[in-house]
Amino acid sequence: MFLKTNKMIIGSDHGGVELKTHLIKFLEAKGIVVEDAGCHGTASVDYPEYGAKVAKAVVAGKAEAGIVICGTGIGISIAANRVKGARASLCHNTTYAKLTRQHNDSNILALGGRFVSFNEAEAIVQTWLSTEYEGGRHQNRVDLLDTVA
Ligand code: RB5
Repeated sequence: MFLKTNKMIIGSDHGGVELKTHLIKFLEAKGIVVEDAGCHGTASVDYPEYGAKVAKAVVAGKAEAGIVICGTGIGISIAANRVKGARASLCHNTTYAKLTRQHNDSNILALGGRFVSFNEAEAIVQTWLSTEYEGGRHQNRVDLLDTVA
């Protein structure tokens, strides 16, 4: 587990709220403290608000890692990645989850609530949390993410 203090934050729009509720229980059962950044119902809301909220908390160090979920995972990952220092990775399978931790030092996992099952999401989250960043040849590229744009 790459978390050192087991503090995470998770946010979604209405397209991801059911998966968010499920994953909060999944993470809490592992002893992880999870802040729920909303949304809190199935009424239509705007994913940029929640992506930005999670990303700002992670970049500020208020949480060590974040999860963002919308219907596809695309909009909310775009929103999270607008925050400098955020490295949000949209993962549809465990291979992507493993590689984005190893190569990108991903600090936010993005999921598509309408495209992964609860079981698939659990496996993706588990892999993402249990894979360490490799550093080395990847570090310069990770550093460039915050300077080239
Ligand atoms: C909301 O209907 C939907 O657009 C949103 O959840 C997400 O898929 C956007 O990328």
